[in-house]
Amino acid sequence: MTAEQSEALLLDLYNIKGSASPLPGEIDSNFKIKVSDSEAYILKIAAPNTPSDHLEFQNALLQHIATHGSHLNASRVIANALGGLISECYDSNENKRYVRLITWVPGRVWSVVNPQSDNLRFNLGRHCGTLTKILQEFDHEEAYRDFEWDIAQSLWTKDHLHLFSEEEQDILHGFQEQFEAALEPYSRLRKGLVHNDANDNNIIVSEDLKHPQVRALIDYGDAIHTQIINDLAIACSYAMMHHMDPLEAALPIVKGYHNSFPLLEEELEHLYVAIAMRLVISVTKSAINKIKDPDNDYLNISEQPAWDLLKKWRLISKEFATCSFRSACDFNAHPKEVTFSEWANSNTFYVADLFPNVEINDIHHLDLSVSSEWMGHRKDFDDLELFEFKIRRLQKCVPNKIIAGGYLEPRIIYTSSAYDKIGNNGKESRTIHLGVDFWLPAGTPVSAICDGEIVIAINNAGDKEYGGLVVIKHCTDIMDFYTLYGHLSVQSVTMHKVGDHIKKGDIIGYLGSYPENGNWVPHLHFQILLSLLDYKNDYPGVAYYSQMGIWKSICPDPNLLFKIESLRKPSAISDEELMQYRQQHLGKNISLQYDTPIRMVRGDGVYLIDPFGRNYLDTVNNVAHVGHENFRVVKAGQDQMALLNTNTRYLHEHITTLTKELLATLPSPLAVVYFVNSGSEANDLAIRMAKCATGERDFIVSASGYHGHTDTCIGLSSYKFDGEGGEGAPEYTHTFVMPDAYRGTYRGSDTAALYTAEVQTLIDAVHQKGRGVAGVLLEPILSCGGQIELPKGFLKSVYTNIRAVGGLCISDEVQVGCGRVGKAFWGFQLHDVVPDIITIGKPLGNGHPLAAVVCTREVANSFANGMEYFNTFGGNPVSCAVGIEVLRIVKEEKLQEQAYRVGSFLKSKLQELASLYPIIGDVRGQGLFLGIELVNRHLRPLSDQTRYLINRMKDFGILMSSDGPDRNVLKIKPPMLFTEEHAEELIFYLKKILDEDVMKHAY
Ligand SMILES: Cc1ncc(COP(=O)(O)O)c(C=O)c1O
Repeated sequence: MTAEQSEALLLDLYNIKGSASPLPGEIDSNFKIKVSDSEAYILKIAAPNTPSDHLEFQNALLQHIATHGSHLNASRVIANALGGLISECYDSNENKRYVRLITWVPGRVWSVVNPQSDNLRFNLGRHCGTLTKILQEFDHEEAYRDFEWDIAQSLWTKDHLHLFSEEEQDILHGFQEQFEAALEPYSRLRKGLVHNDANDNNIIVSEDLKHPQVRALIDYGDAIHTQIINDLAIACSYAMMHHMDPLEAALPIVKGYHNSFPLLEEELEHLYVAIAMRLVISVTKSAINKIKDPDNDYLNISEQPAWDLLKKWRLISKEFATCSFRSACDFNAHPKEVTFSEWANSNTFYVADLFPNVEINDIHHLDLSVSSEWMGHRKDFDDLELFEFKIRRLQKCVPNKIIAGGYLEPRIIYTSSAYDKIGNNGKESRTIHLGVDFWLPAGTPVSAICDGEIVIAINNAGDKEYGGLVVIKHCTDIMDFYTLYGHLSVQSVTMHKVGDHIKKGDIIGYLGSYPENGNWVPHLHFQILLSLLDYKNDYPGVAYYSQMGIWKSICPDPNLLFKIESLRKPSAISDEELMQYRQQHLGKNISLQYDTPIRMVRGDGVYLIDPFGRNYLDTVNNVAHVGHENFRVVKAGQDQMALLNTNTRYLHEHITTLTKELLATLPSPLAVVYFVNSGSEANDLAIRMAKCATGERDFIVSASGYHGHTDTCIGLSSYKFDGEGGEGAPEYTHTFVMPDAYRGTYRGSDTAALYTAEVQTLIDAVHQKGRGVAGVLLEPILSCGGQIELPKGFLKSVYTNIRAVGGLCISDEVQVGCGRVGKAFWGFQLHDVVPDIITIGKPLGNGHPLAAVVCTREVANSFANGMEYFNTFGGNPVSCAVGIEVLRIVKEEKLQEQAYRVGSFLKSKLQELASLYPIIGDVRGQGLFLGIELVNRHLRPLSDQTRYLINRMKDFGILMSSDGPDRNVLKIKPPMLFTEEHAEELIFYLKKILDEDVMKHAY
């Protein structure tokens, strides 16, 4: 049937005039009919020999939903000119075809929505559940039919295994067997009428790109009376496709379904296999169709993603998946969690039950969490000798206690990357500790806590593994559980065999030492397991944070046995509490980054780490110049802090050493240094010096420039005085248009003269008022302006013109200095000029408040007019020790060269990205000081999209920031340890987010 024929049919049968376009379908011929922008239909011409009963069933179903669930937006059935809901026609082969007309549901099909967020998947589950609820009040005899797409009838697929490769057969057969084995309890599950086909082309999503909602389910042709859990399984199986972690992707759907149609525990037991069987049906159908109808691509649309998912699905433990589903439905993840805790409650154990020769039952809680100050720097806790020494020293302070702790503690001491994975939201590492650690000497005997049978006794060799490991199974009257003993000596555990029966108090091993105990300071890792899951020779002692709720239930708190108050994990202050307090007691204009703020407790090189041990790649922080918590810098500061910290009125070597090393990086006219505590203070001082040297007070600055938060600096910062809450330029400040060759007043490569003329106009205006110019204050690359590179030759001619009228030239190097721009150590060197004064801030102290002003001898001499310059903190020995170390690291580790190399690489990758995504209007900057400007096709700034992108990048563990007067420029200025690998990671996720609907539809 052609589109023209269907239009004629429509007019004939329904008296409706519209334009038809064909829609894909499995067996029917369907056409979208557009009547007007707000009126559209689907003309459904059933395949020859379709029984009319089935069509009547679908019509009745839609009418039931229209009456009882109008908020579900299902299509309505339209009557023909004679009032009939089903019409007839004959196709070109003289076949009788039944015809129906239903309303078109506007929106987007699920398969084109990007991202398919957790919220949207929850919404899908809830929509499906609501539909199921409404369908329970409807019945029809057509719902009881043989149907190959019904999971309950899925074993027909067994007859087609020969169509597959051996590996594929193995997968399919495995699931078929599991389904068959549980057929009896499965067949007793609750049944009802369900939609049965929430596949990604049958789900209609609203047009809202930021907060999409599921609007409707379409296509009721597969509706059937079956186990209700099948309906959820189908929704899951399609919506889980294309996700790195399908189980995690399924959970919001399950939660949503349960929210509107409460599921039963026994139903969840079958969900894992039901999902698999839907996929088994799908790939079997595809294999058959490929032979029957090789040209119909639609029939095989889900084949590859279904296989990808099946392969991932079979690697997931069914039991773990079921625990996860239970948790999503607010049941205890492990069904025996409460039984165990009741049993533990009525039985008391002592620490001596674990360590027969230790008679202490009191605990000193040791905090090894990510934010633990006791742990200190990574370099310190990675040093086992130091760690052991600290444990011993601590033990001496608490001789009557055992040092222990760690249940559900987030830790970053698990340095092995063996368990790192890429999840649905970027990189994940195992950080949540599932047992309790008891820090006792090597050789301490360990005994079984109750009677039981050994199920694992091996050497779990490898760095940061268990070393000697024993797991014992215990059977109580009401349930079985397991206890795990890790980090034993290898020899002691191999004395046991799996199957050996052990009595409470029997020695099962001795604490090992490093390296044989997995390379740890001696301790026992003691863990309770309610299930072994599928593990045979190993068992996680640490879990991913995203799965903590599930593991917590499978591995309950060992302190349920001991009941020692001091072993309980101290409660932590929540983000909400922190936020609330800030709102009440910190200034309201001290902002927090991100729509949902994040908390950071540790830094490590190019990463910031949150309290749960998640690493965030930091592309923002040009303060942590040589890396967050650079060990050398930390140590230099700590060491000097232990000796002396006082003001500059005493002789001290550090201040002269730092001065020498700083001056060695600068051209000789810049010869005198003043140390201060912040960039603002540096600029404030520089301005004072220029006023003093020239006797003038008028300054020339760029639009969107920022130079600090003191009153004077704000007065020279157009970014502030021209921004929100600002009052415009003060009398003595003269602002020229931002020399932005991309979107500024003058555009293109040859604009230096035009922008210089703008500056000259201001100089003339000052003179016309009968005053002179004190100076110009400019950054070599305008950071707050949006990483604006000054037009070639501009700075040189501005300096010439300013000097011609007796003014001074100040270069604000607070953001760009210390090697960041790659080609040069200082930003002004990019422009072949030498300023009279430079101000240095952020990078010099690597986070310690250290800044400086460097000026020519002439400027310094005129400033030293008799008034003493005193600064309580500036230039103190600790700050100087830190500054010396920073400059040395930049030099010794060749970080300027790295900034040049990695910056050039990243810039070229960003330019490639810009050629693929026109929303990236401009890529600019030098070294590791880059900017990406997001615009639409009319060069209008896309600030909302920039903000969206930054928030999304954060979801994937990448920190970014924006700037520019329109906040549409992404600033990239990471710690200088940033490598090509980090650059690739950044590009990967930028690409991913640029593909999302909000970004794609913005251009
Ligand atoms: C270019 C520039 N100058 C000066 C400052 C002020 O430095 P601080 O915040 O250390 O006072 C900043 C701060 O962001 C800056 O970006």
